[in-house]
Amino acid sequence: LLLPSVIIRACILVMLRTPGVGKTTLGKELAQRTGLTYINIGDLAQEGQLYDGYDEVYQCPILDEDRVVDELDEKMAEGGAIVDYHGCDLFPERWFNIVFVLRTDNTQLYTRLESRGYTGKKLQDNVQCEIFQTIYEEAMEAYSGEIVHQLTSNTPEDLECNLEQIVQWSEQWMKEHN
Ligand SMILES: Nc1ncnc2c1ncn2[C@@H]1O[C@H](COP(=O)(O)OP(=O)(O)OP(=O)(O)O)[C@@H](O)[C@H]1O
Ligand SMILES: [Mg+2]
Repeated sequence: LLLPSVIIRACILVMLRTPGVGKTTLGKELAQRTGLTYINIGDLAQEGQLYDGYDEVYQCPILDEDRVVDELDEKMAEGGAIVDYHGCDLFPERWFNIVFVLRTDNTQLYTRLESRGYTGKKLQDNVQCEIFQTIYEEAMEAYSGEIVHQLTSNTPEDLECNLEQIVQWSEQWMKEHN
């Protein structure tokens, strides 16, 4: 009996700086369909209190990036993870095989964030970040361009279509690497 000797290493990063774009919805459903492990950086930081101060302007704790990276490094080297976070420059490049940047129409995003109680600078900055494509550019700088993909995430139909595409990619990847 021959067993595959190559480690299955399909790591996926789903992200956008803007909250409310659908990272968690997509990431969790993707984990169900692929059997990969879903990792939410926000939850991980909260559980381990991996913080380093508090940001008064944005009213949120500041992530202790070094401790987050240390905490995850072993798991990421094994492969098989879907990481949900709104930024990417803190993660080592070697962690990921593919990066998806989700994009949402500004008006939809405005409504989604407002309904969460976002106001003032926090709301404006987040919507502007999306308008100016900041996150996509950040991803293109942090990773080799050919592994960075943008996906539209405005409607439930978009979500389903994105899921199917990513599942297909991951099946293909496993075939090629095992
Ligand atoms: N493709 C989509 N079409 C319509 N609504 C969506 C879509 N994706 C997500 N939503 C809705 O948008 C809201 C925010 O989604 P979600 O919590 O997944 O975003 P997020 O990017 O994880 O946000 P955060 O950065 O705050 O964690 C949820 O109410 C979700 O049901
Ligand atoms: Mg989320």
